[in-house]
Amino acid sequence: MKFFIDTANVDEIRKANDMGVISGVTTNPSLIAKEHKDYAKTLAEIASIVDGPISGEVKATTTDAETMVKEGEAIYALDPKHMVVKIPMTVEGLKAKGIPTNCTLIFSANQALLAARAGAAYVSPFLGRLDDISQPGIDLVRTISEIFANYPDIHTQIIAASVRNPIHITECALAGADIATVPYKVIEQMTKHPLTDQGIEKFKADYTAVFGA
Ligand code: E4P
Repeated sequence: MKFFIDTANVDEIRKANDMGVISGVTTNPSLIAKEHKDYAKTLAEIASIVDGPISGEVKATTTDAETMVKEGEAIYALDPKHMVVKIPMTVEGLKAKGIPTNCTLIFSANQALLAARAGAAYVSPFLGRLDDISQPGIDLVRTISEIFANYPDIHTQIIAASVRNPIHITECALAGADIATVPYKVIEQMTKHPLTDQGIEKFKADYTAVFGA
């Protein structure tokens, strides 16, 4: 399972990129709005930092396929090597063709199967938001993974999205997600273990006791 970072904050993206663990970035209209910066410029800046797929979503106010394609083409043109256009899972969204897409807001296996058959490069099941309404989101990731594995002609990759904690990450890897898109805070949490901290302190104490600083 690969990692993408789920943010539009370029400082966080640079920090995660410097760790060498991320292979791409996902954004959404809420994440870009949080930065209070120009929408297209933010996406272009992100694409200049990370050499991998960068998901930029069509406008939250766009509902028809024709406009989605026009906006999608503009997003794609920002950096054709990296940009992937995020399209919401709707009947109109499924019609969008001719650009690499990430079909977002997936909450059922059937939605994922439809998106795959419509030619999406990625589907993004949102596990945290399902957990929020007392439905185990990880079950959806596992089910989609099993279905896609039954059909070798499906090449759509599963991006586990709406990841909220390190336990989600392990579960996504076990469930067969191709990618987990992870907020920076969760990437940091994944690095932590109290025994690692204690071990570092003990090595330091033992070393300095004999060799000095
Ligand atoms: C995915 O691509 C979305 O940007 C994101 O994971 C949504 O996460 P949230 O449910 O925590 O807002």
